[in-house]
Amino acid sequence: MFVRDFAWGAATASFQIEGGWQADGKGPSIWDTFSHEKGRVFGEQNGDVACNSYEMWEKDLECIQQLGLTHYRLSLSWARLLPDGTMQHINDKGVLYYNKVIDDLLACNVSPMVTLYHFDLPQALQDQGGWKSPDIATLFENYAKFCFETFGDRVKLWITINEPYVCAKLGYEDGIHAPGLKEKGTAAYLVGHNMLRAHAMAWHSYDSTYRQKQKGAVSLAINSDWLEPLHQDSNEDVAAVERDLAFTLGWFAWPVFVNGDYPEIMKSAIDAQSKKLGYKGASRLPSFSDDDPAILGTADFFALNYYTSRKVKAGGGCGQTLCMKSDRDAEELLDSSWPISGVSWLAVVPHGIRKLLKYIKDTFSNPAVYITENGFPQVGPLQIEDVERCEFYKDTIAEVDKAIQEDGVNVCGYFAWSLMDNFEWADGFSVRFGLFHVDFSDPNLSRTIYRSGREYATVISKYKSGRCK
Ligand code: GAL
Repeated sequence: MFVRDFAWGAATASFQIEGGWQADGKGPSIWDTFSHEKGRVFGEQNGDVACNSYEMWEKDLECIQQLGLTHYRLSLSWARLLPDGTMQHINDKGVLYYNKVIDDLLACNVSPMVTLYHFDLPQALQDQGGWKSPDIATLFENYAKFCFETFGDRVKLWITINEPYVCAKLGYEDGIHAPGLKEKGTAAYLVGHNMLRAHAMAWHSYDSTYRQKQKGAVSLAINSDWLEPLHQDSNEDVAAVERDLAFTLGWFAWPVFVNGDYPEIMKSAIDAQSKKLGYKGASRLPSFSDDDPAILGTADFFALNYYTSRKVKAGGGCGQTLCMKSDRDAEELLDSSWPISGVSWLAVVPHGIRKLLKYIKDTFSNPAVYITENGFPQVGPLQIEDVERCEFYKDTIAEVDKAIQEDGVNVCGYFAWSLMDNFEWADGFSVRFGLFHVDFSDPNLSRTIYRSGREYATVISKYKSGRCK
């Protein structure tokens, strides 16, 4: 049963919705650069306008109110606030914009959950090495402090970095997200490392300077699939699951929630592979030094982005070249009984979220958990009567309910991805995750509620009845 103060939310991210990419002094981000390069994004689309939330925020607020959300998760565009990423220059118009968004939400009794970084690094910082440079951690800390100082009187839920795994792997190993690098087997580990350092420094700043006065909570959003052995009785498959989990969820959750360091399995697998391929030099996985901030304990709650599940067996690599895939030596497969959604990576496995939540409870000492993203894509002909997505949400929310009631997981909130159709990274506007449809061919970018939005609103009103509206 969902308690009365359970957070019922929907999420978005600055680059995916705002547009206004050069408006009022905003600096370019790596996604501006990347999406303007040929062949990077479906149909050569970009985020120049997107849902134009920079100019049409009031329309978004109407959608939020129509759903009856208690919480709205948004991200700040670092380059809109600090155009070159540093405190040298503050863009007042950007501050004004987010102040209005936050004030309007609060005036409507909706609590903001604010992500500081959701994939859109200021290009100026990328030009200095971006997340590969150790200096990025201090730059991020300064940006975070600025945000706590400016918005923290009203924002009580903070996410420092969204999905460091996705940033590192898709941006630096696979090259399918900005900045589009394919430095296999090395860069992603360095990026992940600097993201953890940056996150921890921001958390410590909040803890020492702002927490007492502002009374908020800070975490980082970790994405994870639920993973199961292909054959339950195969020791090899069971070990492959353990390795795979260590390289995904564990990569970021172990340092923060368990022991301040990477999972042993991950460290030894990377070193064994380096040795096998004759890689000389220090470990490709950096280690934390005494000069680094303490990483352990730097999350006030567990923020989970869950979309899908996989079966896992040992194997799958890239031969004699270094790559993360070979390091983790785990091949992910789909179960034929799992329906596939609009996109090939998203098999519909609602029960996976319950299992993952139980795993998180057992592994990380029963933390408070917010499900900060979960959703279902639509591709091809528009269906406002999106019955499959309705089923998906109904089944997933039922599994979350079981996790709370039967497994005793301390789930505090659920955020649907996404409030509205938006720029779905390399898939552009071809993949629609919204509870509201956005008509990108209409100059007014009209928003229309999907059936799933109507049903989500019904769920919310059922559970929050009694709380002040
Ligand atoms: C997440 C990401 C979101 C959204 C979602 C759906 O990885 O944080 O921005 O795009 O996936 O694919």
